Parts: sequence; C-alpha cells; structure tokens
Amino acid sequence: MLPLPTFAPRLIAWQRVHGRHGLPWQRTRDPYSVWLSEIMLQQTQVATVIPYYERFLARFPDVAALAAAPLDEVMALWSGLGYYSRARNLHRCACEVIDKYDGSFPNSAAELAELPGIGRSTAAAIAAFSFGAHETILDGNVKRVLTRIFGIEGVPSEKRVENTLWGLAESLLPTSEIDTYTQGLMDLGATLCVRGRPHCTRCPFAEECVAHLSGRERELPTAKPKKVLPKRQTLMLVLCDGESVLLERRPPTGIWGGLWSLPEAIDEAVLASCAARFGVTEPLQPLASLTHTFTHFQLTIEPRLATIDGGKNIRYGVAENSYAWVPLHDTSAYGLPAPVRRLTEALQEKFKNVLENAE
Ligand code: ADE
Repeated sequence: MLPLPTFAPRLIAWQRVHGRHGLPWQRTRDPYSVWLSEIMLQQTQVATVIPYYERFLARFPDVAALAAAPLDEVMALWSGLGYYSRARNLHRCACEVIDKYDGSFPNSAAELAELPGIGRSTAAAIAAFSFGAHETILDGNVKRVLTRIFGIEGVPSEKRVENTLWGLAESLLPTSEIDTYTQGLMDLGATLCVRGRPHCTRCPFAEECVAHLSGRERELPTAKPKKVLPKRQTLMLVLCDGESVLLERRPPTGIWGGLWSLPEAIDEAVLASCAARFGVTEPLQPLASLTHTFTHFQLTIEPRLATIDGGKNIRYGVAENSYAWVPLHDTSAYGLPAPVRRLTEALQEKFKNVLENAE
C-alpha cells in the first residue's frame, strides 16, 4: 500500500505540473468568491459553472449585494444550473453572513459548515482556499480517488465507510500548501481518476493503487445497489398567443420551489377547466412529451397547447402575482425549470416557423 506520508507531497508535485490552473476562482482568496464558486461547483462541471460564476460576480460583487437582491433575481440568474435549492440557500447564506457575521465570512470550517447550503466538505474547501486552513475535503470525486488508491471496500455513502474515509483523508493532509493539495485532490478526481474508464497510465499513484494493481478500477468505489426510480406524470398548460406564454410561480418550497413554471394538472379535465378560466374554448393540442429525472423520481411532462389572441389582456382572477405573461424570446428575468425552458425554446421555434410561413 502507498505509504500515507508520501501521498500529499506527490499529489502537490503532480498538481503543480498537471493540475488545472487559471480557473477564475483560483485568482482570488476572497471568501465570498471562493464560497460562490464552491456552491456552483457542487455536482456541476467546471465548464458549465464558469459563465454563471462570472455573471454572478458582475451582478453581485460582494456578499452585501447578494443579500440585498430579491430572491427572484438570484433564481433567474441561477436558472439553468439546476439543483435550485443551492440558489435559495445561497441567498439565505448571504443574508446570514450579513446578519450574524457583519458581512465577513467566518474563517473556520466548523463555523462555515453551520451556514445554509455549506456541508462539511464544502466548508473545508472554502476554509482551505480562502484561509489556508488545515482541513480536508471529501466530496464524491475524492471518495472515488481514495477508495481506489487505498482499496476501501463498501458503499462510500454508508456511514461506516464514510467515517473511515474522513479519517483516512484527515491523516493524509499536508502541513503546508493546503490549497495546492486540495486542488490536486479535486483535479485528480476530475481529470484522471474519473468514473467509468480512468486514465491510470497518467496517474502518479498507478504503481501503488490497489484498484489498478488488482484490475478493479471499475469495481471501486463499491456501487450503491440500483434503485428503480418511481415514475410520475403531469400535464402542463402551454397558454400562448404566439409571442408570449403564461407562467405560474411555484410554491416557495418543494420541487422547483420559487421557480416560474407552467400551470399543471393531474388529468385532462382539470387542465381543460384551468384553461377555460383563461378564456380558452378550443380543445387543447398535445405537444411532444418530455422527461426529467430528479434524484427520487422520473417525471414525464405532457404539454397541452392552447393558443389565444392578445394574451396581455387575460384576467388571472385570484393570485395575480403568481402569474406572469412572459415573452417567449426573452424569459431571462424568470427562473425556469430546465424542461420548461426547453419547452419555451421549442415553442419559440414553432411560432417562428408559423409566422415565417404566413409571410
Ligand atoms: N470542484 C469543486 N470545487 C472545485 C474547484 N475549486 N475547482 C475545480 N473543481 C472543483
């Protein structure tokens, strides 16, 4: 087995030469920027995050600007990054840093981990990158690296295995250059020791890696027994006048909490009566269905189109501020769930073709 004290110096040497450099958040030690990047990078690839990170920093240059912004604006800017509870927690966290810490992020991982949306590993990453704190990260990528190199058996998300991994990760920490070391752990997991087919020929630990030496790269980390996701179905009303579409704000908590979506119903009759409230008399027209996978279930969306004239004049009746009549060509001021955004884009195409053919 790889002697534990040799791990950190070798990883640091590898990161300096082969790791990722020049990422936008590596130019700063500002805890606000580091925190923002780490939240965005949870379950999300670097290339996807970069433009969001830059737009957020341009619009909210510091934690006070973010805390002062309406949640709606934060959600709209986050739209497309997914896992929207991150955006809600981001805003809550900014408010708490203002209220509780007078606008300065605390500098210990333990205090950071008390803030909304910051788990133990993210707290360690922020503390290491911003303050040089002697803390270890342990996200999914790092769990994969450690289980393979050190041959740790068992499902990593199980408490017993997870505790073993935290203990191992802590015992590997270097006494200096914690930022390069932390980045090295992330880089090794993201670029070489990837899921599926890892690039062992380029790995600095290939000669001692338990998984590689025993040809078990595909079996470590031990996979969770597969659960078949339950299926759910919903109907969505796409009320459109060729230029704009009716959106309805979702309740603040739960699936797509606070985002702007389409009115929904569980069956055709309920959807038809919903459409009738907006003055629709024609039968609804089925559009191609979409599926969206959540962590706990798979959702099939059956959209139903109703076209009306002059949507701006419709009366919403109750709960006026839960509805908005939004131009199809620019929904950017609204946070939309990914499949609803896809639908509005498809609709824009559809109506563009209709208008062009009519000319
Ligand atoms: N994933 C999580 N944090 C990261 C970081 N700081 N750089 C690159 N990828 C990451």
